[in-house]
Amino acid sequence: TSYETILVTRDGRTATITLNRPKALNALNAVLMNEVVDAATTLDRDQGVGAIVITGSERAFAAGADIKEMQAQSYQDMFLSDWFTAWDRLAAVRTPLIAAVSGYALGGGCELAMMCDVLIAGDNAKFGQPEITLGVIPGIGGSQRLTRAIGKAKAMDLILTGRTIGADEAERAGLVSRVVPASDLLEEAAAVAHKIAEMSLPALYVAKEAVNRAFESTLAEGLLFERRTFHATFAFEDRTEGMTAFIEKRPAKFTHR
Ligand code: HXC
Repeated sequence: TSYETILVTRDGRTATITLNRPKALNALNAVLMNEVVDAATTLDRDQGVGAIVITGSERAFAAGADIKEMQAQSYQDMFLSDWFTAWDRLAAVRTPLIAAVSGYALGGGCELAMMCDVLIAGDNAKFGQPEITLGVIPGIGGSQRLTRAIGKAKAMDLILTGRTIGADEAERAGLVSRVVPASDLLEEAAAVAHKIAEMSLPALYVAKEAVNRAFESTLAEGLLFERRTFHATFAFEDRTEGMTAFIEKRPAKFTHR
């Protein structure tokens, strides 16, 4: 498939989706949203893919939803088209998603990064939810995912003032997994993707489900989900292989590699 606003590349069991609207700092318009969702869900159906990197340019991961596209819309337009809802299909992808963030990740850009599972930031990354400065509020999960990621006080600070934070503050706050020199960002993200993609695919799927369940349930329900899912991993061929390989002191040969 050839896309207008993104590039998709494959490397072994990993894939990379690169947002590619450089003149608009990768502003997330409807075409880009539909293309990212289409690419990610297509890769998700491919069991040859064990990890997907989502990245932007050096200057901008994404500077937000496309303000020029939204400016003239009415409430009825937004409601009838259910604006932004297609992004929910990205959050439902089972394959591990790695955000590699360089430059601006603002508004929808920050929200897109937060929909990913592992968030790697270059030391030049800037995160924020500046919607308030436009007279609106986050619309792709920012008020919920940011609050769960960094807590109420810090989320309120960012969402009510619209201020931007750098990579170090984002890491201290727990928003990002790791910060690396900007020049090493893609290499680091690829290394993490390859590492993850070597693991058992069904184990990755259930690990991601279990962590995500922490955001959807009480502790008791989440622990029960984890315990039952842990039991269920004993039905996977890769579980037998993984434990047998350990005892035989050899690398595991998982089915989906
Ligand atoms: C549309 C955008 C854009 C955006 C940048 N551009 N961000 N176009 N939507 N979100 C365009 C600019 O209009 C400009 O195009 C070009 O990209 C380069 O941007 P500049 O502003 O000239 O660059 P710079 O001076 O370096 O400033 C970078 C920036 C600034 C600080 C990131 O662009 C900025 O503040 N952008 C908006 C950030 C934002 O508010 N994001 C949240 C959006 S709302 P032209 O053609 O004019 O040169 C959102 C969620 C909405 O994400 C949910 C509720 C509706």
